[in-house]
Amino acid sequence: MLSNDPHVGSPRSRVDGPAKVTGRASYAAEFKATGLTHGYILSSAIPRGRIRAFDLAAALAVPGVLQIFTHENRPQTAWFASSYRDQVAPPGKPLRPLYDAEIQHSDQPIALVVASTFEAARDAASLIGVTYERAPHETDLERARHDSYEPPKKRSGIAPPPDPKGDATAAFGGAPIKVSAEYSLATEHHNPMELHGTTVVWESGGKITVHDKTQGTLNTQGYVTSVFGLSSDDVRVVSPFVGGGFGSALRPHHQLFLAVMASLVLERSVRVEMTRTQMFSHVHRPQTINTVAISADPDGHILSLQHNAVAATSRYEDYQENVVNWSGMLYHSEATQLGYELAKLDIPTPGDMRAPGAPTGLFALESAMDELAHATGIDPIELRLRNYTERDENDDKPLTSKELRACYAEGAARFGWSRRKMTPRSMRAGKELVGWGMASGVWEAMMMKSSARATLGRDGRLEIACAASDIGTGTYTILSQIGADALGLELDAVTVKLGDSSLPMAPIQGGSWTAASSGSAVTLTCRSLCETLLKHAKAVEGSPLTEAAIEDVAFNGGMIRLRREPDRAVSITDALAAAGLDQIEAEETASPGLIAPMRRASYTHSAVFAEVHVDEQLDIVRVTRVVSAIAAGRILNPKTARSQIIGGVVWGIGMALHEETMTDHRFGRFMNSNLGEYHVPVNADIDGIEVIFVEEHDDKVNPIGVKGLGEIGVVGTAAAIANAIHHATGKRIRSLPITVDKLLAA
Ligand code: MOS
Repeated sequence: MLSNDPHVGSPRSRVDGPAKVTGRASYAAEFKATGLTHGYILSSAIPRGRIRAFDLAAALAVPGVLQIFTHENRPQTAWFASSYRDQVAPPGKPLRPLYDAEIQHSDQPIALVVASTFEAARDAASLIGVTYERAPHETDLERARHDSYEPPKKRSGIAPPPDPKGDATAAFGGAPIKVSAEYSLATEHHNPMELHGTTVVWESGGKITVHDKTQGTLNTQGYVTSVFGLSSDDVRVVSPFVGGGFGSALRPHHQLFLAVMASLVLERSVRVEMTRTQMFSHVHRPQTINTVAISADPDGHILSLQHNAVAATSRYEDYQENVVNWSGMLYHSEATQLGYELAKLDIPTPGDMRAPGAPTGLFALESAMDELAHATGIDPIELRLRNYTERDENDDKPLTSKELRACYAEGAARFGWSRRKMTPRSMRAGKELVGWGMASGVWEAMMMKSSARATLGRDGRLEIACAASDIGTGTYTILSQIGADALGLELDAVTVKLGDSSLPMAPIQGGSWTAASSGSAVTLTCRSLCETLLKHAKAVEGSPLTEAAIEDVAFNGGMIRLRREPDRAVSITDALAAAGLDQIEAEETASPGLIAPMRRASYTHSAVFAEVHVDEQLDIVRVTRVVSAIAAGRILNPKTARSQIIGGVVWGIGMALHEETMTDHRFGRFMNSNLGEYHVPVNADIDGIEVIFVEEHDDKVNPIGVKGLGEIGVVGTAAAIANAIHHATGKRIRSLPITVDKLLAA
C-alpha cells in the first residue's frame, strides 16, 4: 500500500521546463505595464576623470523623449555610500549611479534617457554631447601588482588566508624536489543569456513592483528601500525566472537604480535593460595572478606549499574571494604559507562568478601538483593520494565528510585512467596528439538561514512558497520533490512559488547553498504541516489514528495511514473537512545552527578527468572527453544535478580554452564586449561529458545531508584540461585561456 516511489533521489524533469520552453515564463524585461516607458543608458567613453558638461539639446528634441537624467538633475537619493551597500557588497563605497561628475571606470553609466519607445531613447542617447576632463588611468594588472596590498577590511563570509604553518620558505629551500611558477587567469564576464534588466511597475500612491533580474529579491528590495528611502511595504521585488545568473545578478546593478529613480520621478512605469556591451560595464571575474611553490621528498610527500595571489579590484571597492585557502585544505603539508592581495585598477568592481576564487586558485594549485607529479615521476592520482588529508588543515578542523578518494577511484575507472602512458606526447590518435589530465576540485558546502511556507488544500494540493530565486539550478524542482515526498503526493500536486520579496525570507541564491538552506526550510515546514494534518485526522469521526504519533503514520497517496496497517487511513480531504478548513498552513525557518559549523568544516569535492586531442601542426585543442566525479552528499535529483555539473564543466572548458575579456590599456576599456569576440564554448566545442555522483553520506552538514552543486562542476575542470594539454604536447601553459597563439609560442 505504501507504494509511491520517493521523488527525492529520483531523476525528475524540471517542473518549470514547460513554462520555459513555451515562452510562458516571463523574465524581468518582459513584464508589461500600461504606459510603460523605456530608459536607455549612456555610458562613459573615458575610464577616469570628470564630466565637464553635457549638451542635451539635440537629444531632448527627439520626439518621444520624456526626460534625460544626469548627475546635474537627478533627484535626491541617499547621501552616504554605505546606504548603497547590498547584502554581498565587499568593503568600500559602491558606485552611486549619476551621483556626481566623477568617472571611475570606462562605460560607467552617466545619463539615462527615458522615452515613450526604446528606439527614441536609444536614438536620443546617441545625440548627447559630453565634454570630459580626463585623468590618468591604470588598467594593467601587470603594472599595478607592484602596488598590491592586503585588504584592510575583510569581506564578510570570505575567510582571509590562515596564519602560516611551519617555515615554508626554509623548507622549500632545503627540499630535494621543487616546483615553482606563476599562473594567471584572464578577466572573464558571466554573459548570462538574459541581459540585466528591470521593469518598474508604478502604481498610483507611489507603490512600485520591481521586476528585476536578480539572484535575491530581498537583496534588491533592501537596496531600493535604502537608496530611495522607501518602506518595504512600498517595494515588491519579483523575479520568478532568471535567465542565468552565475553570480552576475547577486548584487544590484545600475539599471535597477536608474529604472527605479526614473519611475519615482516620472510617476510612470519604466523599463531599463542593459545592452550586451553594457553587460561588460560591471561585475566580472577578476584577473588574478597566482604564485605557487611546492616542495616534496622524492616519494612525493609535500614538504612545503606556498600559494600567493594578487587579484584586480576597482578603485572604490575591495572585492575579495577565496583564491588561496583551498591550497591549505586539499592536501597535507608540513609547512604552508598562503597570501592574498589586491591591486587597484580603474575598472568596475569585480564580483562573484560561479565558484568565485576556486577555479582561479585551483588552476594554479592543480597545475603545480601536475608539475610535481611530472617532476617525481609519480602518477598524478597517486601523488594526490599520498598527500590526502582527512582534515581542513587551515583551521585544523575535522570534516563532516570527504569522499574525494572515491571520486578519484570511480572517476579514474570510468575514464580508463590506468591505460594512461606517463610520458607526455606518448599517446596519439591519427595525426593528433592525445593528452589525459586530471585535477581535484573543492567548494564550500554552506547553509544559510531560510524560511518557507507550505499550504495544503482540501483538494490535496500543496503550495510551497519561499523568496529564493531559481537561477536555473532546479530549485523549483527539488523543492517540489521535497514537498511531494513529505506529504506523499504526486509531483504535479505541488506548486512552488519563488522569486518574490513578499514570500518567506530566503538568502540570495548563490554559494551553492540554496538546496541546503531552502531545502531544509521546506523539510521543516512540511514536517510541521504533517503534524497539523495528523491532529485534524485524529479528530475525524471513527479515526483509526487517534493513538498514533507522527512516527507511526505515513503520508501517501493523499492519505494519512498507519504504518503498521496501511489500510487504516484518513484522507487529507476528510481531515480538513472535519475541521471545517479549506486549507492548512505552516511556516518554519531552518538555521545552520552555531555549534556544528564551528566544530567541523564541510566541502564538496570532485575529481575531474579530461581528454584533449591536439593538432600537432596547428596546436588546435579539442576537449574530447570529460569525466567529473562529484562527492556532494545526498543527491536530491540526479537529473537536475547532472545538468548542473555538465553546465559547470562547459564553463571550465570555456575558462581553459576560450574566455577572456581583453583590455586596451591605452583607452582603459574592455574591448571585446560582445558575444562575437568574447568567446564562449559552443556546441561544436563540447563532446562527451560524463558525471558520476559518488556515495557520500553526511548527517552533520545540514538537516537534509545535501552539499550543493551549482559551483563544484567548474572548479577543477580548467586545471584538468591544462594538465591534459601538457600531457598531449609537453607544453605547460600557465595562463588561461590556453589559446593557439600561446601554444604555438611555447
Ligand atoms: Mo554564485 S557566483 O554564488 O551565483
